[in-house]
Amino acid sequence: MRRIAFMNQKGGVGKTTTAVNLGAALASLGHRVLMVDLDPQAHLTLHVGVDPARLDASVYDLLIDEEVGAEAVVRRVDERLSVVPAEVNLAGAEAELVSAADRQRVLRRKLEPVFDRFDYMIIDCPPSLGLLTMNALALAEEVVVPMQAHFLALQGLSKLLETVQLVRGGVNGALVVSGVVLCMHEPHTNLSREVVSDLQAFFEQSRGQSVPWSGAKIYEPAIRRNVKLAECPSFGQTIFQYEPMCAGARAYMELAQAVAGEGDGDDEPATARVQIETLGALRSPGEPQHTES
Ligand SMILES: Nc1ncnc2c1ncn2[C@@H]1O[C@H](COP(=O)(O)OP(=O)(O)O)[C@@H](O)[C@H]1O
Ligand SMILES: [Mg+2]
Repeated sequence: MRRIAFMNQKGGVGKTTTAVNLGAALASLGHRVLMVDLDPQAHLTLHVGVDPARLDASVYDLLIDEEVGAEAVVRRVDERLSVVPAEVNLAGAEAELVSAADRQRVLRRKLEPVFDRFDYMIIDCPPSLGLLTMNALALAEEVVVPMQAHFLALQGLSKLLETVQLVRGGVNGALVVSGVVLCMHEPHTNLSREVVSDLQAFFEQSRGQSVPWSGAKIYEPAIRRNVKLAECPSFGQTIFQYEPMCAGARAYMELAQAVAGEGDGDDEPATARVQIETLGALRSPGEPQHTES
C-alpha cells in the first residue's frame, strides 16, 4: 500500500482537486483507494458526493473518541473508492487532541487495521501545519505538494520541507517527498517558467543528499486551468463522472499513470486514452454513480 499526503499550508492551490481526481483515476485504473479528508472545510467529502452534515461518524470521531474504530468511518462511494469523511467539528479536534497521548500518531494507529484493504491511501491536508497535518504526516509515507508556479511559492515550499524534515527526524522516519504537482498551471507565462526552472534546479541540487526530498520531482503532466475541474465539486462528482473527456480529466488520468508507474518505469500514455474512453462510454455527465452505504 502507498500512503500519500497532499500537503501545502497555503489554501486554494489544488490539494483537494488533486486528491479527489487523482484518487478517482487510480481507482479507475483498478486500484483500491481510500481517501482521508483531514480538512475541516470537508471539501473532499463534498466533492465525492457525501454530505458532511449527515454523517454518523467522521474522521473527527476517529481522532477524538477512543471507542470509534476505522470500520465505523470508512464509507464506500464507488466500486473501488472509499472515503473517511470530515465535518466542520474537525476544526475543534486540534485543541482537543493537544492533551492526548502520542497525539501525532492517533490517526495512524486508528487506520492501521484497514491498511491491507487498500492499494492507495490519499490524505487531503488542511491549509496549515498544525496537529491535523502532523497526523497526516505520521500516517503517510510520501508527501506530494500541489502548488502553483507563482511568486513566493518556493518560499512556502521551503517552510513545508522544513516541517517534513522535522517529522522525519521524529514521528515518521520513513517519510519522503515524492514531488510537486503543478496545478492551475499556465506554462506560457515567463513567471511560471522561471519558478519551474528554479524548482527543477533545487531538486537537482538535492540529489544524493540525506534530505527527505532527495528523490523529489515535478510530476508530468502539469494540470492546467480547466473550468470543468472547478465546476464538478458542486455536483458532488469527480471529473470522471462530470466530464470524463475534458482536458482536466485526461491530465489527471495521465498523472495517475505516472504516479502508479513509479518504480517500474512502465507508463504507456496510450492506456490513459483507452481508460478515458471506456469511462466516457460508461458514464454520462449528471449521473452520479455513487453507492453510498
Ligand atoms: N486545474 C484547475 N482548473 C481550474 N480550477 C481549479 C483547478 N484546480 C483547482 N481549481 C479550483 O481552485 C480552487 C482551489 O482548489 P482546491 O483544490 O480546493 O485547493 P486547496 O484544497 O489547496 O484549497 C477550487 O475552487 C477548485 O475548484
Ligand atoms: Mg482543500
